[in-house]
Amino acid sequence: MTAVRKVLITDTTFRDAHQSLLATRLRTEHMLEIAALMDRIGFHSMEVWGGATFDSCMRFLDEDPWERLRALRKAMPNTKLQMLLRGQNLLGYRHYPDDVVEVFVKKAVANGIDIIRIFDALNDVRNMAKALQATREAGAHAQAALAYTLSPVHDNDYFVRLGRELVELGADSLAIKDMAGLLSPYDAYELVTKLKELGVPVQLHCHYTSGMASMTYLKAIEAGVDIVDTACSALALGASQPPTESLVAALAGTQYDTGLSLDLLAEASAYFKEAKKAYDRPPDEALGVDTNVLSYQIPGGMISNLASQLASQNASHLLPQVLAEVPRVRKDLGYPPLVTPTSQIVGSQAVFNVLLGERYKMVSTEVKNYIRGLYGRPPAPVAAELQKKILGDEKPLDVRPADLLEPQMGKIPEEVKNLVESEEDLLSYLMFPQVAVSFFKRRRGLEPPLAAAGAAAAAAGAAKKAPKAEAKAAELSRLGAIDSSLMLEQDEIIVYPVA
Ligand code: CO
Repeated sequence: MTAVRKVLITDTTFRDAHQSLLATRLRTEHMLEIAALMDRIGFHSMEVWGGATFDSCMRFLDEDPWERLRALRKAMPNTKLQMLLRGQNLLGYRHYPDDVVEVFVKKAVANGIDIIRIFDALNDVRNMAKALQATREAGAHAQAALAYTLSPVHDNDYFVRLGRELVELGADSLAIKDMAGLLSPYDAYELVTKLKELGVPVQLHCHYTSGMASMTYLKAIEAGVDIVDTACSALALGASQPPTESLVAALAGTQYDTGLSLDLLAEASAYFKEAKKAYDRPPDEALGVDTNVLSYQIPGGMISNLASQLASQNASHLLPQVLAEVPRVRKDLGYPPLVTPTSQIVGSQAVFNVLLGERYKMVSTEVKNYIRGLYGRPPAPVAAELQKKILGDEKPLDVRPADLLEPQMGKIPEEVKNLVESEEDLLSYLMFPQVAVSFFKRRRGLEPPLAAAGAAAAAAGAAKKAPKAEAKAAELSRLGAIDSSLMLEQDEIIVYPVA
């Protein structure tokens, strides 16, 4: 009789699954209706917060993300709640000072989070250290994630070295975070085997984009992975995670049996099949299998972003050239993994390079800051010629980016003095100043609710939309320049963030 080694499941339906398929729009009410049942299933944990959900709550749903967390905590008292945190970037798109990281983590835990998964887009451990430490100090489980990618500098040995560093930094467990579904089954077998030697639990998070994820999970399970991330089948596959029910059925009666009830899971699935009808159908790019991720190494969510950026420039026909340019830009920038925010930085520069017909004729502020070292240390050196062009004889920064930032907590800026009602509000404001201020004003009834504002704007904007795009394209070709706001335009980030 073989020893039982039960595989644990983290359900991602309330975070990554709808971020990947429903543009992060799942409303709290649709979670609460099914929360009691989800709480009975017996997941190891449920990922319910972080990533793009925080921004999306305030920006699109007129919801307070902190309120969502408290409501879920109350509705699911038996299940550990998990969140995704971008290390020193918290849930935003830039670095925050250490005091903001400390208070944010403390508040996340105080409001109900048990497990924090922490990653950095460059796998620069200096950008993860403070969040890991703060998580442990707050009494929660600090999981360090390896942002998985492939390149001449990224192989299994690289990720094992990285894993060891993170365990030495105090990580309670490790996660392999495969945002593009690049991890193949046999690489996973080897990587998990080696990571397990580091002595902490290992969790695997894959997206289904390339179609390999279920096979990859099975080999990882055979290699001893402790926990895998899945989503309710109604919100699984495509750009999302593998479906829970299939994995539970596949392992039933084996030494890896999850012990979860297929009947309860089917009930949850029936609910989400109905609930998702209230939302826009996922775009074709987010469904099915897309092996472009394997040839171009571009996550599915990012392809959608590129397609929409090009469409806004009336240049959809250039998509094939842009897809070919992305790996070249990524190489020039030292092979960053493509995940928020580097996916947007690399993608937009590739768009510039193709649209303008000349590489690096125009370089975005974000690329300049990246080359200066303001996002951390690139995995490999930046191409010498490009660095020279941007920095001249100046050397890139070698300090941890957050060391350059002044503390920010404790002083409430004038513009929100009368709007901020709690320390949680202040954190929302520090991460998303404009979005939070609008949200606070609507909450006070000082501005109309989103639905009303959206309808009015749509009516006013319907007639103007097409001419505006044409004018923009004409302006671009005339100036040979691009408005940098196009590049990290937050609406585009939020539509298909890559995580
Ligand atoms: Co993900």
